[in-house]
Amino acid sequence: MKRFEGRVVIVTGAARGLGRDYARYFAQDGANVVVADVRDTRSAAAEASSEGPHCVGIEVDVTDRGSIESMIGKVRAEFGRLDILVNNAGLWRGLAEAGLINCPDEMWDAAWAVNVTGTLKCFQAAVPIMREGGFGRIVNVSSMASRNSGNVYGLTKNVVERMTQGMAREVGDCGITVNCIAPGISAFEAAQGQLEAAEAIVAGNAIKRVGTSRELYEAIAYLCGMGGDWITGQTVRVDGGAGIG
Ligand SMILES: NC(=O)c1ccc[n+]([C@@H]2O[C@H](COP(=O)([O-])OP(=O)(O)OC[C@H]3O[C@@H](n4cnc5c(N)ncnc54)[C@H](O)[C@@H]3O)[C@@H](O)[C@H]2O)c1
Repeated sequence: MKRFEGRVVIVTGAARGLGRDYARYFAQDGANVVVADVRDTRSAAAEASSEGPHCVGIEVDVTDRGSIESMIGKVRAEFGRLDILVNNAGLWRGLAEAGLINCPDEMWDAAWAVNVTGTLKCFQAAVPIMREGGFGRIVNVSSMASRNSGNVYGLTKNVVERMTQGMAREVGDCGITVNCIAPGISAFEAAQGQLEAAEAIVAGNAIKRVGTSRELYEAIAYLCGMGGDWITGQTVRVDGGAGIG
C-alpha cells in the first residue's frame, strides 16, 4: 500500500513551481490530489492524474473566502473528505528587492493577502471538513527568509510561522496537526532564472547547493504521515543549513 493511498490532499499554488511538483509526488504516493490555483490548473491536474489516482484541478483565489468555500464544496462533492492541506500558494518574486522604503502599496498588500491571509482563510475553511473525519494534516509554507529578512517577504513568512503555532493550539484536540516548512532556495523548472543569484546565497549554507522539490516534499510527507502524529505547531527548516551561523 502506498503511503498516502485513500488520502485526499489539497495543494494550493499547484499550477506551477514547487506546488506542482508536490501534487505529482502526492499522486505518486497514492493520494487523490486537488490541484488548486488562481491560474489554469488543467495541465498540472492532468500530470498528477497520470500517476494513477483521481486528481482534479480547481481554480481558487486564496485571498477570497467565497472562492475557498466553493473549492471545499467541490472537494466534498467529489471526495466526501479532506485529509491534508498544503498551504503552498505564495508570492515572492520581487518582494525582497522592493525593500521597505520603496515597497509599492499594491505589492505590500498582495504579499500579506496571499502569504498570510490566504493561509489563514484556507485553514479556516479546511478545519470543519477535517474535523468531521476526525483527522487532518495541515502544512503551511514559510521560507528561509523568515529568519532575518526585514522586507515584506520575510515579514509575511515570519508571521506564517507564528500563526502556525496559534493554529495548532486551536485544533490539536480534534485530530488535526498544523506544521510549517521553511524551504531554502529550491529547484524546479520555473526557478531556472533565479539560480544564478541562488549560487551566491547557498554558498553560505552548511550544504552548499540549492534544494530540490523532492527534498521539500519529503519533509511535508513526514509531517503528514505517521511519523508526524505527535508533531504540531513546528516549523521544519529544509534549507541546507542556511542561517545556522
Ligand atoms: N522557490 C523557492 O526556492 C522557495 C523558497 C522558499 C519558500 N518558497 C515558498 O514556496 C511556495 C511556492 O513557491 P514557488 O517558487 O513554487 O512559487 P511560484 O510563483 O512558482 O508558484 C506559486 C503559485 O501560487 C499561485 N498563487 C499565487 N497567488 C495565488 C492566489 N491568490 N490564489 C491561489 N494561488 C495563488 C500562483 O499562481 C503560482 O502557481 C511559496 O509560498 C514560496 O514563498 C519557495
